[in-house]
Amino acid sequence: MARKSIGIVMNGVTGRMGYRQHLLRSILAIREQGGLRLADGTDLWPEPVLVGRSEAKLRDLAARHGLDAWTTDLDEALARPGVEVYFDAQVTGARVAAIRKAVAAGKHVYTEKPLADDLEGALALAKLADESGIKHGVVQDKLFLPGLLKLKRLIDGGFFGRILSVRGEFGYWVFEGDWQEAQRPSWNYRAEDGGGIILDMFCHWRYVLDAIAQVRSVQALGATHVPERVDEDGKPYEATADDAAYGIFELDGGIVAQINSSWTTRVFRDELVEFQVDGTEGSAVAGLRRCRVQHRSMTPKPVWNPDLPATEDFRAQWQEIPDNTVFDNGFKTQWEMFLRHVTEDAPFSWDFYAGARGVQLAELGLQAWREGRRIEVPELRR
Ligand SMILES: NC(=O)c1ccc[n+]([C@@H]2O[C@H](COP(=O)([O-])OP(=O)(O)OC[C@H]3O[C@@H](n4cnc5c(N)ncnc54)[C@H](O)[C@@H]3O)[C@@H](O)[C@H]2O)c1
Repeated sequence: MARKSIGIVMNGVTGRMGYRQHLLRSILAIREQGGLRLADGTDLWPEPVLVGRSEAKLRDLAARHGLDAWTTDLDEALARPGVEVYFDAQVTGARVAAIRKAVAAGKHVYTEKPLADDLEGALALAKLADESGIKHGVVQDKLFLPGLLKLKRLIDGGFFGRILSVRGEFGYWVFEGDWQEAQRPSWNYRAEDGGGIILDMFCHWRYVLDAIAQVRSVQALGATHVPERVDEDGKPYEATADDAAYGIFELDGGIVAQINSSWTTRVFRDELVEFQVDGTEGSAVAGLRRCRVQHRSMTPKPVWNPDLPATEDFRAQWQEIPDNTVFDNGFKTQWEMFLRHVTEDAPFSWDFYAGARGVQLAELGLQAWREGRRIEVPELRR
């Protein structure tokens, strides 16, 4: 079978997301499966060029995976022959400047979210990318989670009747870094470095909610529950960013969504994120992988009586949605779609404008918190 190589500059591959989800679970996984089979029968073969700040880390990482293309010089990477795509998984604050360079070099761009740390920056990038005629995309991985794909299947099949409300719980305890190492990087807890859970998670909630119905307004209360943490070098620092957010969103059709996002809560759930959708005909609880439903005809009739212990096993009254298909890693699925978009012009809807909509919700969420009010979410036009 004919094989066609495509050079991909991957910036930020020494980081958590860049390494695990994008290099290992996406690009190297595509190579392990023999490449990406295109419509004309060609196998597309991604050739990553690893970019980062630390020579030692890059050398080690490349050697570990039998790769030889790496550099700490982004301009040099972009100038290499065969490079067509730039990918960015750096800290959010470093993103815009690097993407601008890639666009100027005429590369197609795929990036982690948030696209920028404010809406103005995100829209300027989207406009620049369009004017330059490059193809662009933003990671929207939650859409490709098995649990949310099952939820989408239910929506598309009309399971819910009229959807009334959505309740989301996301979060887990992120250690402070003193007596146990923190499992997230310290920049996440510093506003001046692009941290904060609203900027991080509202980008995701935008596309998760829009897939149910268009988001029309936001109210949010943020909090910095843990004001001091300890960084990667064991040094205490002041947490200047929100580590929890309590949001209410109005969607088209009168649907009310509430989502709690927290790095300061302990998990008493089945998965790290769960969404309950209640409709007139039935309800569903979707997580990362699972999705359970209760149809109207199967709904029990509990009666409030605090004098007696609960006699019903409420969780047992739900039914599990079957997989009915094989789910691949969501990051890899979206990578494959973006590469098809670049090479054979396949449709791809998660472009920089979609990324900007995520940043818009985060920005309005922060404003709603600051001003203590409900804010409408205007439609973003191209
Ligand atoms: N899609 C998702 O579910 C998801 C999840 C977590 C993070 N993210 C996003 O991915 C990006 C990276 O997050 P992460 O958790 O992998 O972070 P990380 O700290 O583990 O990695 C950050 C990367 O950026 C590089 N970098 C460049 N300039 C830097 C600077 N000035 N300071 C520190 N690092 C710098 C680092 O070398 C490293 O490779 C962020 O934009 C974040 O919002 C997305």
